[in-house]
Amino acid sequence: MIPAGLSFFFRHAGQLLTLSGPPVPRRGPDLGELGILRDGAVLTRGPIIVGVGRTRDLDAEARRMKARAIDCRGRVVMPGFVDSHTHLVFAGSRVDDFEERLRGRTYEEIAASGGGITLSARLLGEASTRELCARACHFLEQLAAHGTTTVEVKTGYGLSAANEMKTLRAIERIRKQSPLEIVPTLLAAHAVPAQYRKRPRAYIDLLARRLMPEVAKNRLAEFIDCFCERVAFSVADCRRALEAGLRHGLIPRLHAEQLSRTGGARLAIDLDAASADHLDHVNRSDIRALARSGVVATLVPGANFHLGLGTYPPARGLIEAGAAVALATDFNPGTSPTLNMQFVLALACSALRMTPAEAISAATINAAYSLRRADRLGSLEPGKQADLAVMEVDDYRKIPYYFAWNHCVMTVKRGWIIYAQDRLGVSGIVS
Ligand code: NIG
Ligand code: FE
Repeated sequence: MIPAGLSFFFRHAGQLLTLSGPPVPRRGPDLGELGILRDGAVLTRGPIIVGVGRTRDLDAEARRMKARAIDCRGRVVMPGFVDSHTHLVFAGSRVDDFEERLRGRTYEEIAASGGGITLSARLLGEASTRELCARACHFLEQLAAHGTTTVEVKTGYGLSAANEMKTLRAIERIRKQSPLEIVPTLLAAHAVPAQYRKRPRAYIDLLARRLMPEVAKNRLAEFIDCFCERVAFSVADCRRALEAGLRHGLIPRLHAEQLSRTGGARLAIDLDAASADHLDHVNRSDIRALARSGVVATLVPGANFHLGLGTYPPARGLIEAGAAVALATDFNPGTSPTLNMQFVLALACSALRMTPAEAISAATINAAYSLRRADRLGSLEPGKQADLAVMEVDDYRKIPYYFAWNHCVMTVKRGWIIYAQDRLGVSGIVS
């Protein structure tokens, strides 16, 4: 049945990147297939796409439906970005950490001396829920203005059951306010709180006893994540947390092999996690195991860039082995203060040696798989949700080529125009 509602006819896209294909994550050579239509068009009714094709082939149907025409004038039209890894709810910044790192201290050293996540946790504890929501809403507006239509949001700066609940309540509130789709993840095991330094397992058990039942009862999170790292939680502790999460209906995802190789990727595979993220230190056998698994390998090169590491995760090895690679911003105050997926595409090309087409598939359809939403999101196909971005370029490769720009001139979520630059204002182009 075709849903009722406002209809739009996005027509004359110079390149319409449909990302259409079989309903499986894109692997190997398929990652580079964008399903491009020249002079393409998308016809929507309410929140749903009802037609995708050449403009002239959809014209009559658009007229019959009295759809409002939006002339895309030769621009690139693509699915909205799915940013599948962010830590968007935080207070203050970590600009002092940033400068200290530039003077030579490492992320781990700063974390060990009370900076890092511990500092962000103190600032979050001091902030009101209202302040947290106001900041987060500002970030969400920026995400929309850069072409992102779905965003995963992790907790993680609570470091106590009470402040994790405060973060979850803030996420619940912004979910109601924002037109973007927000996917909440419980990352309560992000750093070991000072009082649990010698017994991290007791903190995990506290989370399992006090926090997870409440989260499950009120449906405050969909996924559970842990920071599996020498400066955070061991593989055994992460397993304990993720298994407790599973018992409460939370789907695992994991920060794995970011700063060192700890075995997190294997744990993610073992638990059939939705995603293993970062993966800087995976070895060849981890890559083969990921390729054989259903775990999406989510790469976040913004973190490497901002930390000035000079090294990047082995994207080519993962793609060539057949892993399902996704890209995300990892937007957070400590390691990746960017929410621009277009810049992540540029890093994916220049630093990870991905092609522009591979990067776009990784940032849309594969990211949608990692959030278990690929039945609705990540490609422009009839029956899917009308989530798209119009980019002010005539060739999709120019999105990463002209790097660190914002090419997005219009963003559409569930069939609503949620962002439009003045020069593509609806009034000027409605026919
Ligand atoms: O993805 N690795 C752990 N979490 C974040 C960093 C969070 C922080 O430093 O505030 C990351 O890089
Ligand atoms: Fe992260």
